[in-house]
Amino acid sequence: MVATLFGVSAPDITKARVLELGSAEGRNIIPSPILCPVLILPAVDFSPSSISRGQALVNQLGLKNIDLRTMNILDINKELGQFDYIICHGVYSWVPEQVKAKILRLIAEQLSENGLAYISYNCYPGWHVRDISRYLMLYHTTQFSDAKLQLHQARALMDFVAQNATQRDKPLPKDCAGGGHYHPRD
Ligand SMILES: C[S@@+](CC[C@H](N)C(=O)[O-])C[C@H]1O[C@@H](n2cnc3c(N)ncnc32)[C@H](O)[C@@H]1O
Repeated sequence: MVATLFGVSAPDITKARVLELGSAEGRNIIPSPILCPVLILPAVDFSPSSISRGQALVNQLGLKNIDLRTMNILDINKELGQFDYIICHGVYSWVPEQVKAKILRLIAEQLSENGLAYISYNCYPGWHVRDISRYLMLYHTTQFSDAKLQLHQARALMDFVAQNATQRDKPLPKDCAGGGHYHPRD
């Protein structure tokens, strides 16, 4: 719809091949093959437990036009072919630089001629709310060298902040942070 509004002639969705990167259990993508005969070939995530939860849902719904696959984005190559739509929702801002570069390269190399890519990412000012927690953790964990201890200490610090923040100071609920939602207290 957005492509059409911008005068771009996007591929016919009923004949399209779609790739979703970082699908988790498919909450973003599973509604599409229910609504139209689009082919999701494949939706990938490197978490086997997420993919098997998604697969259970796909089986329950009896969907034949979606292939959820346990796969690292870094391992995708031209053997998977070309795609009319490449969707990457809620991934780009959370992955290392080499995965970000691979996402962009996949789009450059494996998007069909009039294909569309959708990448969501977190932006300021909403992202500052999460950044506060991130910088707190980075600052605190510089004093530890062991990665497991750093992780443990980062979580412990977040528990401490959560337990001691007043209701008014608590970070925004998950669905609001980084998004376009405003809360009356802002
Ligand atoms: C916040 S979730 C987004 C899930 C889904 N797109 C949605 O909108 O509901 C990010 C997902 O990216 C996956 N992920 C991160 N790095 C990945 C990689 N290198 N290869 C495959 N999946 C990856 C994670 O396992 C996680 O499930």
